[in-house]
Amino acid sequence: MAAKAFSRSITPSLVLLFIFLSFAQGKEIMVGGKTGAWKIPSSESDSLNKWAEKARFQIGDSLVWKYDGGKDSVLQVSKEDYTSCNTSNPIADYKDGNTKVKLEKSGPYFFMSGAKGHCEQGQKMIVVVMSQKHRYIGISPAPSPVDFEGPAVAPTSGVAVLKAGLLATVGVLVLGLF
Ligand SMILES: *[C@@H]1O[C@H](CO)[C@@H](O)[C@H](O)[C@H]1NC(C)=O
Repeated sequence: MAAKAFSRSITPSLVLLFIFLSFAQGKEIMVGGKTGAWKIPSSESDSLNKWAEKARFQIGDSLVWKYDGGKDSVLQVSKEDYTSCNTSNPIADYKDGNTKVKLEKSGPYFFMSGAKGHCEQGQKMIVVVMSQKHRYIGISPAPSPVDFEGPAVAPTSGVAVLKAGLLATVGVLVLGLF
């Protein structure tokens, strides 16, 4: 009886833990939700902007494009070049067929195809990354690892410190649920 109640209370806590950990890692998001989605859309409702409006992008996530690198490419461009489909001065230019772009800051990102005529026919996409405020809400600062582990400790990266803080918070959260 007691065991049953215990397992019933621990399950949601574990689910929460995994949700928190997956946020900490940053997700890899396949553009368009599937392989081969980087193409001229067949209709307005099929466009990548329709998909991007529904998806949630956060700092640390990566966008992944899969396409035929011999025929197409991915350009990250300015808002002006996005609007006019100008391919001549991209911020970044990818044509490896398996492109991964990490979203390092909040705000809009503008992408379009570098293939001739494709952008004009709608193969373009705006991704808006949510601000950090939305993401790390309620996370307490991590204690300094040096205090615990003595002098012979290698410097810890900011990411590791953040994760330690996140784990500590999740720990408190899990205990609180019992
Ligand atoms: C594209 O941008 C470049 C540099 O800003 C400009 O010189 C060129 O005329 C533009 N091309 C078109 C087709 O608008």
